[in-house]
Amino acid sequence: MAARPKSLKLFIVTCLQVSALFLNVFIDATDVTWDPNGYILYCPCMGRFGNQVDHFLGSLAFAKMLNRTLAVPPWIVYRHHSPPFTNVHVPYSEFFKLEPLKQYHRVVSLEDFMKHLAPGHWPKGQRFAYCFESSAQRSQDKKSCPMKDGNPFGPFWDHIGVDFDRSILFGGLSFPPQEHPVLALPGAPAQFPVLEEHVGLQQLVVWSDNIVQEAESQISSHLNRPYVGIHLRIASDWQNACKLLKTGDTGPHFMASPQCVGYDRQSALPLTMNMCLPDLSEIRRAVKLWVKNTSAQSVYIATDSESHTAEIQKLLKGKVKVVSLQPDTAQIDLYILGQADHFIGNCVSSFSAFVKRERDIHGRPSSFFGLDHPVKRKRKEEL
Ligand SMILES: *[C@@H]1O[C@H](CO)[C@@H](O)[C@H](O)[C@H]1NC(C)=O
Ligand SMILES: *[C@@H]1O[C@H](CO)[C@@H](O)[C@H](O)[C@H]1NC(C)=O
Repeated sequence: MAARPKSLKLFIVTCLQVSALFLNVFIDATDVTWDPNGYILYCPCMGRFGNQVDHFLGSLAFAKMLNRTLAVPPWIVYRHHSPPFTNVHVPYSEFFKLEPLKQYHRVVSLEDFMKHLAPGHWPKGQRFAYCFESSAQRSQDKKSCPMKDGNPFGPFWDHIGVDFDRSILFGGLSFPPQEHPVLALPGAPAQFPVLEEHVGLQQLVVWSDNIVQEAESQISSHLNRPYVGIHLRIASDWQNACKLLKTGDTGPHFMASPQCVGYDRQSALPLTMNMCLPDLSEIRRAVKLWVKNTSAQSVYIATDSESHTAEIQKLLKGKVKVVSLQPDTAQIDLYILGQADHFIGNCVSSFSAFVKRERDIHGRPSSFFGLDHPVKRKRKEEL
């Protein structure tokens, strides 16, 4: 600021420049500073919310391992049976706080990345996709990463406003950030289910104030404590999946089941049909047991189809209030189950697994249909 303003016009221009400078400094001081160590972008393109969270925890650990900032993607919510009858992309921060993640590693929301960083550092024309040669094999020319092939891939990157200019295929992951600042991946760089050593990262996943407020008001208007929360995963898609158990096409490790049979394959408990797809008599047995154990005043039922409210009311002889809200936002169910005095989940379901992980962190008891006393996790990882 060497030059002294000579006219009012120049003075105003200078003021504008100075405030622009301050504004930049302000933005840079928050979470949208460019990270010279680069970024990880991915599409949470496998499965519904439960699977997406499993993948998110692993991706966070992966970004930390590579020491790149994780661009936290929105959740993909499949609203195909109710308006707007399409995929909805919900920013991470609508359900959870972004801030607690930063205790563990550098993150920026994908929306902020696109708004503040992409224009200058990842401009159109320089947007490369990265994938394994094996996934490029699926493309027509066998040399392109299948970034936007089909649903939910195409709608996701369209929503973000990204087209890819080139594909870079790899065997390993050694990309110097100077030449490869942004690694955009077709899927999460993580396993499903979440690895045992990353289960504890759940503690970074903290509900947003909006969800807490809405769900707490549902709890106080509908439920009397103590209450037992149950998750019924029994719809027809699940009945088909659980058939694999009957035919012996899967062992004890099936989808989220390590959460209850144990991660160690050698010592894993057997996975029974009641654990995958509890029938009404198992649902009755478990509810009765835990209602008695906790002297519950209410039972809360989250379900993917039927709620069996009438049957459970009858079972408890009308002495216990039985509630199933079936909210529009599944996260309200997750929150209510997380707060229950006891939770009975489905061992194979990643939706139940979300609840179980959250409850473990807060020392709240959980069991599963078909397994009243699940295997306890041995290791506790440091953050
Ligand atoms: C990790 O990245 C951060 C931010 O770019 C940098 O300050 C730090 O030195 C890096 N750590 C290592 C071990 O390279
Ligand atoms: C409830 O279950 C827990 C865990 O199995 C057990 O320790 C406790 O004694 C039970 N309480 C009652 C009142 O049955």
